[in-house]
Amino acid sequence: MKAIILTENGDIDKLVLKEIDKPVIKADEVLIKTKAIGINPVDTFVRKDEAYVKRKLLIAPGEQMILGWDVSGTVVEAGKDVTEFKVGDEVFGMVKFPGHAKAYAEYVAAPESHLALKPANISHTEAAAATLAALTAWQALVTNAKVKSGDKVLIHSAAGGVGHYAVQIAKYFGAYVIGTGSGASEEFILAQGADEFINYGKEKFEDNVQDADIVIDGLFGDHILRSIDAVKRGGRLVSLIAFFEGEIAEKAKAKGVQTYRLAVESNGDDMKQIADMLKEGSLKSYISDVFSFEDIPAAHEMVESGKTRGKIVIEL
Ligand SMILES: NC(=O)c1ccc[n+]([C@@H]2O[C@H](COP(=O)([O-])OP(=O)(O)OC[C@H]3O[C@@H](n4cnc5c(N)ncnc54)[C@H](OP(=O)(O)O)[C@@H]3O)[C@@H](O)[C@H]2O)c1
Repeated sequence: MKAIILTENGDIDKLVLKEIDKPVIKADEVLIKTKAIGINPVDTFVRKDEAYVKRKLLIAPGEQMILGWDVSGTVVEAGKDVTEFKVGDEVFGMVKFPGHAKAYAEYVAAPESHLALKPANISHTEAAAATLAALTAWQALVTNAKVKSGDKVLIHSAAGGVGHYAVQIAKYFGAYVIGTGSGASEEFILAQGADEFINYGKEKFEDNVQDADIVIDGLFGDHILRSIDAVKRGGRLVSLIAFFEGEIAEKAKAKGVQTYRLAVESNGDDMKQIADMLKEGSLKSYISDVFSFEDIPAAHEMVESGKTRGKIVIEL
């Protein structure tokens, strides 16, 4: 089968197309014939950085590195302990995260506990998009922050992969949603359902919002410190990037803010909740660009710009 191997950590030229053997499934796994693959910022972090490889990929000795976790496709083989899925089923999910899922390949071995059935009314491309990014939004808002009707929720990077799902999920739970983005993203963010938009190029979000029940922050630098100013006393702050230590932890504690440093994890039950929302149309994937399998390096370059809208997906 075709796979994109990461020959060593580095630039996009280290992503090389190769012919390798199909994976062999374990008893609790299915073999998926890949139809679409989602690309995320973490793919590029892991590509560049050996420390990320060790943390996220958990590579066995002698194994070839293959990036990718987000997959949608057809089950072509099922292990003897698999009960939920059968050959011919269309499935999707974020597989083995953290771990070595090897999703940049024509066939992917996936534990059944990481998957959901793809709703028939959405394409594999839309499904592959709604995996790591949608799960992150779900686990941030629902698992961690326990969003509820009437909550005021500030979502940073609301035009991005995680952000556009987060806006829709928060609205689904009845929250009042404020999204941040550049001026060019205003229309898009409001179209996802946000009640208010803040242009980070024109104003400081913390001047505008100081009483959020929940803030979701995935930006680098002092952004998280500023986000503490935007949460109300006793509110919830979910960080996708910064860790709550040192000055950040102290500032949050002084304000009684409940802090969560999310590390998204594969979870078939959460995937099924996302599948239900996709099926009923309360969650939609926005896909700004589609690349071919051979063009995965170009997709990495685009994600690294930090300016992509919604999701970027690979179609096979
Ligand atoms: N911890 C975890 O488990 C986890 C999981 C998933 C993602 N993450 C992290 O969360 C972050 C978001 O992920 P993603 O997949 O959504 O990334 P993404 O799709 O690449 O996000 C791109 C978006 O960020 C927006 N943006 C850039 N700078 C901004 C700013 N200063 N204020 C507001 N918006 C800004 C851009 O909007 P404009 O074009 O309008 O500027 C763009 O639409 C990444 O850093 C990612 O690594 C962490």
